[in-house]
Formats: sequence, C-alpha cells, structure tokens
Amino acid sequence: MRLIFSTFLIGTVFLNAFGASAYAMEDTPSKQQEVANVAHRGASAHAPENTMAAFEKAVDMKAGYIEIDVQMTEDEELVVIHDITVNRTTDGRGFVGDLSLEEIQALDAGSWFGKEFANEQIPTFEEVIDAYRGKIGILIELKSPELYPGIEEKVADVLIERNMQHPQNEKIIIQSFNHESMQVSKELLPNVPHGVLAGMTWDGVTEEQLANFATYADYFNPNLNIVTDELVTSVHEEGMEIYPYTVRAQKEADKLINLGVDGIITDYPEYVYKHPVNN
Ligand code: G3P
Ligand code: CA
Repeated sequence: MRLIFSTFLIGTVFLNAFGASAYAMEDTPSKQQEVANVAHRGASAHAPENTMAAFEKAVDMKAGYIEIDVQMTEDEELVVIHDITVNRTTDGRGFVGDLSLEEIQALDAGSWFGKEFANEQIPTFEEVIDAYRGKIGILIELKSPELYPGIEEKVADVLIERNMQHPQNEKIIIQSFNHESMQVSKELLPNVPHGVLAGMTWDGVTEEQLANFATYADYFNPNLNIVTDELVTSVHEEGMEIYPYTVRAQKEADKLINLGVDGIITDYPEYVYKHPVNN
C-alpha cells in the first residue's frame, strides 16, 4: 500500500512538473479504482456554465458526468441554470421563476463568457436529458427547490416518461442542498441514486447525521474544504459515496484523491484521473 502510494506521489509530481494531461495515467494497471470525473455545470472552465457548449466540452474531455442545476420557470417548465436570477449568466434580468420559458429562451447565455458562445441558450431539462442520456452520466441538482413547489414531481415525470426510473446503463444521480427535497424525490424515484449536498456548515457532521442521510441517500457530497480522512471513512461506513465540490486546482484534486473520495466535481475535468490509492 505504502509502495503504491509513493509511486503515485512520484507520478503526480512528474505529471505536474511537465504539465501532462490527467488522462496520461489512463493506461496504468487495471487494478486502479477510477475516481468519477464530474464536470461541474459542464466543463465550465472552458465554456459557459450549464449550456450545451459546456456539456459538449465535458463529453469531448471524457468526463464521466455532467453536473446540471435545475430550476422552474413561471410557466412551470424545467430549465438548467445555476443562479435564481438570469442576471449573471445572460443578457437579461429577473428571477428564473418570474420568467416564461419563451422569455428565458430568448436570452443570450453565452456572450458573458466569450463572444464565440453568443448563440448559447439556457437549455431545458428535457433537452439535456435527451441529448446526453446514455452518452455521459448526469448529476442532477435540484437548485433551491423550496422556490418551486412540485419540482420533484416534474423531474420524476421527465425521467419516468423516458423509462429512466430504473437506471441501468444510464448514470443518473439526483442531489440537492435541500435534504427534505431529496427525501421527497427518493420516494418518487426509489431506484434512482440520490445525494445530499453539504456546505461548510456541515463541518463536523456526526455519525448519527450521516446514518440518517444514508436512509435515503447514496451520496454525501460536501464542500471540498470540510473533507477529511475521517469523513471519507465515515461516509463509506454508512454505505454512501462521497463526491466533493468544487475543484478548481490540480492540488485540490490530488489532495482529495489521496483522501480516497469516490468522485470529484470540478470545473476542470482535466484535473481528475485514475488513482491507485484505494487498491
Ligand atoms: O454539485 C455540487 C455543486 O454544484 C454545488 O454548488 O453552487 O455550484 O451548485 P453549486
Ligand atoms: Ca450545482
């Protein structure tokens, strides 16, 4: 174990020193455990977040998942956008929940990131599911679901209409910071893996709290700053996996992989790679 770990550290230093891609390690021995590579809002360091351009980039970079933020318009259509207003990432203004789908789709969701992305729109949830199911995993975050009563049922309906309530070859996970929402969603979709997101206030989460999460969740996905060796062990002891967010530096990815996390949610899929530390 120690020998393997040392070998990894030497390899990491070598890769960093020469600026090599994370994927350069893909042909290392098959005994390695793969750390899930989750492209946060798509490959959002390289293309405007939560747009088809960012999701396409994640596929090109061979990420394992795209992470998407789902909210609801005034006319109760599901759309993919992070903030509860359109102000930061489009040329419009206002709350997502106060705008119709038509108004939302008229917005430019790409120019803020770069002129070459001027044609990007805010996608609907259904568009993203239909474009990427079976092609890449989809980590679906219900963003501020308390603002959108019934959003859990709407999301479940979209998946059930497509016979995706029993995921087999498709990698689908639903997660939220709103843990009550996850309990509702798990009731609707008992065979779909669910996750609880945990911000900095969950530093010091207890074994008892983790055991409670494990009654309905398969993933405990915390802010990367609260991840410790002990937390990873405790999450695993409860039968859950742990995908911390949001990695924006190679050294953050390396540290988390060394701690034994199962996945990494990152703006930079190139920072995540296969690692031997758990073998
Ligand atoms: O997937 C976890 C991460 O997306 C949670 O934070 O604010 O980027 O949605 P946020
Ligand atoms: Ca998110």
